[in-house]
Amino acid sequence: MKAKPTVLKLGGSVITDKNKPATANLDAIERLANEIFQANVSPLILVHGGGSFGHPIAKKYNLAEGYEKPAQMFGFSETHRAMTQLNGLVMEALLSHDVTAVVVAPSSCVVTKAGRIQSIELKPIKRMLDMGLVPVLYGDAVLDSQRGFAILSGDQLVSSLAINFGASRIILGGDVDGLFTEDPKSNASAELIRHVSLEELKSEKHKIEGSKATDVTGGMLGKMQELIPALEHDIRTLVVNATKPLRVYKALKREEVIGTIIEKG
Ligand code: IPE
Repeated sequence: MKAKPTVLKLGGSVITDKNKPATANLDAIERLANEIFQANVSPLILVHGGGSFGHPIAKKYNLAEGYEKPAQMFGFSETHRAMTQLNGLVMEALLSHDVTAVVVAPSSCVVTKAGRIQSIELKPIKRMLDMGLVPVLYGDAVLDSQRGFAILSGDQLVSSLAINFGASRIILGGDVDGLFTEDPKSNASAELIRHVSLEELKSEKHKIEGSKATDVTGGMLGKMQELIPALEHDIRTLVVNATKPLRVYKALKREEVIGTIIEKG
C-alpha cells in the first residue's frame, strides 16, 4: 500500500430512517456513493452502520449482552441478514457509481471477547487495499469467545481498522454537523465546536447527546468513546454531517468543510 488509508464511516442515521424499521434512505445512499466516486480517494476503507436495519432486531432479541437462551439464535441470524440487506443497497449504489467496492462481512472475519474485537482477519483487506479495491464493512452480529455472540458497532471497527492499517484519518459521517455545546436536536442555542482535543473528549467537557432512536451500541457518546484508541494513535478524526450534500465529498478531498476535528495534540 503506497499511501495511508482513509477510513470513512457512514452512520446508520444517515443511510436509514432510524425511526422506521428496516427503512433505507436510498436518496442519501445514492448521493453518498456519488460523492465517494467523485472524491476518488485511495486507499479507502468504508464502514457503515446499522440504523433501523440492525438495531431494532438486535434489541428485540437482546443480543448486545450475549447469548442467554436458544430463542436468541434466530435473532442472531436475522440481525446479520438485515445488515446484509442494508449492505446490499449500499453496494448496489457504490457499484452503480463505478466505485470498486468489495464486501467484507464482519461476522465472517471478526471474533470478539466480551464485546471487544479479539481477532480480525486483516490479510484479505490489506490485499484489497493494495489492489485499489475499497473494502466495505459494517456493524454486525459477530461471534464472541466469552458471550457466544455480540453486536459489533461500526465505530469499534473503524477504530480498529484505522489503527491496524495506520490510517491517515477517520471521517465520521453522521446526521448532525459535528460535536455541539448542547444537544443540537433539542436546543436551538447549541453551538458547533470546530475543534476538540483528545483530553477534552475524555473529560466529556462537551455535551455529547446519546441517540434517541433505538441504538444498542451506545449512541453518539458510545461512538466518540470508540474513537479514543485511534486518537491515541494520533489518527485525526473529522465528524461531518453526511445528510447534507457535499460535506463528505469535501471532507474526503481535504477541503474546508463544516464539522468537528478531534485530534490528540
Ligand atoms: C450497529 O452498528 C450494528 C447492529 C446493530 C447490527 P452501528 O452501531 O455502527 O450503527 P449506527 O451507525 O449507530 O446505526
